[in-house]
Amino acid sequence: MVKIDLKNLKVEARKEIKKTDNLKDLDEIFKKYLGKKGEITRIFNSLKKLSPKERKKLGEGANLVKREVEEMTKERAKELQEELRKQKIEKEKIDVTRPGKKLEIGHLHPLTLVQREVEEIFQSMGFSVIIGPEIETEWYNFDALNIPKDHPARDMWDTFWLRNNQKIPNPKSQIPNKSQILNFKSQKLLLRTHTSPVQVRYMEKHQPPLRIIVPGRCFRHEATDASHEIQFYQLEGLVVDKDISAANFKAIIEEFLKRFFKTDIEIRLRPSFFPFTEPSFEIDIRRKKGKWVETMGAGMVHPKVFEAAGLNPKNWQGFAFGAGLDRLAMLKYKINDIRLFYQGDLRFLKQF
Ligand code: PHE
Repeated sequence: MVKIDLKNLKVEARKEIKKTDNLKDLDEIFKKYLGKKGEITRIFNSLKKLSPKERKKLGEGANLVKREVEEMTKERAKELQEELRKQKIEKEKIDVTRPGKKLEIGHLHPLTLVQREVEEIFQSMGFSVIIGPEIETEWYNFDALNIPKDHPARDMWDTFWLRNNQKIPNPKSQIPNKSQILNFKSQKLLLRTHTSPVQVRYMEKHQPPLRIIVPGRCFRHEATDASHEIQFYQLEGLVVDKDISAANFKAIIEEFLKRFFKTDIEIRLRPSFFPFTEPSFEIDIRRKKGKWVETMGAGMVHPKVFEAAGLNPKNWQGFAFGAGLDRLAMLKYKINDIRLFYQGDLRFLKQF
C-alpha cells in the first residue's frame, strides 16, 4: 500500500496557500487539493479499497486535512480581498492639499478689443451703436445707396450673391404682376459688402437729428493679400442734422483718431467717389512719417439716400464714413497682414 503522508500534504498546501498573491492562483491551488482530481479527493476515492480499520484511520485524517485546507483557503481569500480593497482606496484617494491645475483663461480677439474701444470713444461723443444684418438685400446694399443695377459703380464691390430660396410665382398657376416681380428682384440676397446699408435701414425708422456708428462684418468676393480679406470689419458712421458740414466730419474724425491712437497722427483727405456721398473723400492716415494707409471712405450724404429712406433731402444734411476696423487695428498694433486676424493662430492671438 502507498504510504500517504497526510502531514506532509498539509504542510505543502499551507506553504502554497500562503505564497499566493492573487485569487485566481488561490483557486488553482484549492482545486489541486480538493478539486475532482485533487490530491485529497483522490485519497477519499481510494478509501473503499482499504480494510475498515485503515479506512477509518485514513478517512479521519484526510477529513481533518480537508477541513484545514478549506479553512486556510478561506482565510487567504479574505486577506487577498482586503488587500485589493486597500489598493483600490489608495488609487482613488484625493490629496486635497495638492496644488490645483491652473485653468487657462482665454481673452478677447484683438478685433473685438478694437471694436469695443472705438465704440466707447464714439459713445462718449454722443453716438449710438447700431447693428444691421450681415445677409442683406440687393436693395439696401446697392439700389437704396444710389447704385442701380448695371451701374458700373457696382464693380467697386465684388459681391457674394446668395441663391434665393424665395420662389418666383409659378406663371402657370398665377401670373405675377409687375410689382410682384419688382418685389422679388429687390429681395435678392447677398452678403453685405459694406455697412452702409444700415444708414438707410436706420433712417427709415428714425427721424434726424441722429448720430450713429455701425460696427460689423462685411464680405467681398476678391483675392486675398496682406491688406485684403474676403471678410473684414467696418465701422460705419452717420451724422444727420439741419446743417452738418464736412468741417464737422473732419473735427470728429480727428478727435476720434487722436483718442484711439493716443499719439499724434497725420490725416489726409483725398477727393474720391462713392455713389451715396457727394462730395466724397478718402481718408489716409499715417503715424510717425510712416506709410500712408487708406483707412476710410467718407462724404456728405447724397440726396438720393435720404429719399430712399423716406426723408426729404431739402430738410436734412449730414456726413457718413466707413472705416476699416481691421486697418485701424493693424495700424494701432503694427500688424502687417490682415489675414492674421482670421487664422486663429495662438502665437498671434496670445500677444493681445
Ligand atoms: N461703404 C464704403 C465702402 O465700403 C465706405 C463709405 C461709407 C464711403 C460711408 C462713404 C460713406 O467702401
